[in-house]
Amino acid sequence: MKHSLPSPISDIPFDKVAAYAATYRSGKTNLHATATLEELRASFGGVLPEQGQPAEQIIDDLIRAAEPGLVGNTQSGFYAWVMGSSHPAGVAADWLTSIWGQNCGIYQCSPAGSTAEEAACNWVLDLLDLPRQSSVGLTIGATMAGFIGLAAARDEVLRRAGHDIAEDGLQSAPHVTIFISDDTHASNLAALRYLGFGNRNIARIATDDQGCMLTDDLAEQMNQTQGPKIIVGTAGHINTGAFEDFHTMADLSEEHDAWLHIDGAFGLWARSSSTRHALADGVERADSWSTDGHKWLHIPFDAGFAIVKDRAAHRRAMDITASYLPDPPGDGRNATHFNPELSRRARGFTAWATLRAFGKQGVRDLIDNHCHCAELLAQSLADEPGITIHNDVVLNQLILSFDLGRGDEDADQMTQRMEQALNADGSHFFRIAKWQERCVLRVSILSLKTKPHHVLELSEKMKRLWREIRG
Ligand SMILES: Cc1ncc(COP(=O)(O)O)c(C=O)c1O
Repeated sequence: MKHSLPSPISDIPFDKVAAYAATYRSGKTNLHATATLEELRASFGGVLPEQGQPAEQIIDDLIRAAEPGLVGNTQSGFYAWVMGSSHPAGVAADWLTSIWGQNCGIYQCSPAGSTAEEAACNWVLDLLDLPRQSSVGLTIGATMAGFIGLAAARDEVLRRAGHDIAEDGLQSAPHVTIFISDDTHASNLAALRYLGFGNRNIARIATDDQGCMLTDDLAEQMNQTQGPKIIVGTAGHINTGAFEDFHTMADLSEEHDAWLHIDGAFGLWARSSSTRHALADGVERADSWSTDGHKWLHIPFDAGFAIVKDRAAHRRAMDITASYLPDPPGDGRNATHFNPELSRRARGFTAWATLRAFGKQGVRDLIDNHCHCAELLAQSLADEPGITIHNDVVLNQLILSFDLGRGDEDADQMTQRMEQALNADGSHFFRIAKWQERCVLRVSILSLKTKPHHVLELSEKMKRLWREIRG
């Protein structure tokens, strides 16, 4: 009988992949996917072959099938979303993680993976200047980090109200109210839903023109509400990059014995900047924070950090225990204490390697450079007739609209035309969003390759295209 066994490791074309990696990263790759869904399905789909195939052929086929469907977020012209580009040092560590085949659910599955993760998490606390006693879960992203922070929040505010969620679940629990801004990131509402909270548990707080919670409204709504409370704030709004008033939120949280969670998917990194640190002042008074590694820090996807000041509350919310899952030695780390997964990739290696590749100064320079670029772009567009910058450019985000003064509908169409025009030659990737009922072009500046001259060139291109459209 013929067996189809996997290729021996010596037959795997690692050299070829390494050579390809160097070419892909150093060359100009497509910013936009060129293949249609149907074409990609035709390349990837079909029936799974009965017999296994040689790895060399599979890798060739994979590159051929994937390339037309890749998006160039590793290129400097990528401004569409706040998405990192997988730092090469992290990529190399990521390969090793797979080569070593490490599962880092518990310490004993991968003592090295667990300890690298612990070190990376401590570095993150240090870089973000958050309470050093906090526990940190290394997650797949900020959505999951928010879920974890809010799970700890839910369980703890209920515990204080005399309800043990581990024993009694959510069904008979006292009503918890979540105070969250009208402009919160959609992932926070999703996390709340996964945690059993619906619209009737959520008090939406009015916002200012930058998408920040109005703290007078927050105070008023909290004063009118009985029972356990959670506040969700934002450090770095997805569109405007704005920061909320964390000191007032923290005061209100203390006054009401509430829990304050901060979503700082990318904005929290202002804490490690030399020029923008003050934006996130007061954030250290919160009870939990969620942030990403795979956005501004360029840790390869996927990486996020769930940070909880009260380790015990974090652990009570997440712990998975079983007799076959031993505790770590001493005060070592079982990731299952802080994350909802059991088996999980030892993603601490990539975080550890990327953070070391930057060093503290590198992270500072990274954030400072992008904020400076955003400022330059804003200055250079400021006087151009018909271009409106809708946000106060405090971080790395701009939202723009293009307007001939013929009404909002026409302006929305002009902004869409500019999106198409900017993307047309393939050297840039932009996307639009809705902001306060208006269509805006998002400019998220965080590429590892973006330097001031790139944004000045971009500004010239924008003005030239806009003048052509204006006629
Ligand atoms: C403010 C904010 N919160 C949360 C998220 C969700 O992060 P992730 O995509 O890593 O889950 C994002 C993503 O852009 C964000 O900008």
